[in-house]
Amino acid sequence: MRGEVCIGIGSVLSFASLLLLIFMHVGQINTSTVPRNVQMVQVNMTGFGQGLAAAINPDPVTGLYTNNGSAPLEQGLGLRMIYKFGLYSHCAYVNDSAGICSNSSTANRFEPFTVITADMSANFSGITDALVTGTTFTDSQYLGNFSNGAYYLLLIGTICAALALITGIMKHTFGFLVSVLFAMFGSLMLLIGATIWTVIIKKAQSVNDFSLGPQASPVSLGIEVTIGNALLLAWGAFACLIISVIPYMISCCTYRG
Ligand SMILES: *[C@@H]1O[C@H](CO)[C@@H](O)[C@H](O)[C@H]1NC(C)=O
Ligand SMILES: *[C@@H]1O[C@H](CO)[C@@H](O)[C@H](O)[C@H]1NC(C)=O
Ligand SMILES: *[C@@H]1O[C@H](CO)[C@@H](O)[C@H](O)[C@H]1NC(C)=O
Ligand SMILES: *[C@@H]1O[C@H](CO)[C@@H](O)[C@H](O)[C@H]1NC(C)=O
Ligand SMILES: *[C@@H]1O[C@H](CO)[C@@H](O)[C@H](O)[C@H]1NC(C)=O
Repeated sequence: MRGEVCIGIGSVLSFASLLLLIFMHVGQINTSTVPRNVQMVQVNMTGFGQGLAAAINPDPVTGLYTNNGSAPLEQGLGLRMIYKFGLYSHCAYVNDSAGICSNSSTANRFEPFTVITADMSANFSGITDALVTGTTFTDSQYLGNFSNGAYYLLLIGTICAALALITGIMKHTFGFLVSVLFAMFGSLMLLIGATIWTVIIKKAQSVNDFSLGPQASPVSLGIEVTIGNALLLAWGAFACLIISVIPYMISCCTYRG
């Protein structure tokens, strides 16, 4: 294969990887159309009102949810239906269109139980704390620490994908060698980062099977955790970047420009 074709394929693959990673990073940084639809993980609280009602029966559950999409988060102003978590912040939505995001910070920790109970009024968060135990979903320390570490790996992977693309464009044997190294190291970082996220989401999903009430007629707690599309973007970026190693390596060995 001609050297130029090989370089071209390597560049296209590392560019695709970088593009996927950029979409992953913008997820949930605000509520405009694209970020709104990209999340690492989604928590659906729609059924929780019913689950809670079954648990504290015959006391009624009134005032658990708010229908004001712009009410500030984590101030006990009411639960939202859907919570979506990104790498920098989380957003909460009362319906398909109305929602608000938390303040952004790098290495935002994924602590779903903490942020969700912080939206409930004090009487409900107390009941929820007592009710939901023995699942990883409530272990904010564990989920927070691992998501925080995984963020840095994904960030390093993103930087390496960008550097592999840039050094590959410099048509020089040494440049291709550097591209190979960046692509290999970057894909290793993405692999570990995406694996950590996959594992912690799978563990948090244990809450999906949590049930309450008498053993004869259990009622689902009504919290549903699903894997978000940003994690699929991370896995796609990993695949593109690791495949780009092959053309970069061939260019590195054969290019005589
Ligand atoms: C949330 O769960 C409810 C049922 O509990 C379902 O009807 C609704 O479609 C879910 N929403 C999303 C965005 O998954
Ligand atoms: C919890 O607090 C809310 C708002 O202060 C109130 O509307 C609701 O009745 C309370 N629920 C219980 C079970 O005490
Ligand atoms: C979503 O909720 C907001 C605030 O309550 C409301 O103004 C809007 O009409 C709702 N949108 C839909 C599609 O239900
Ligand atoms: C919703 O919450 C915001 C922020 O607290 C407030 O300014 C606004 O008046 C509220 N809207 C309604 C309809 O209560
Ligand atoms: C978000 O930032 C604003 C302004 O810096 C601050 O007033 C608010 O308390 C912060 N909210 C949270 C949940 O930390």
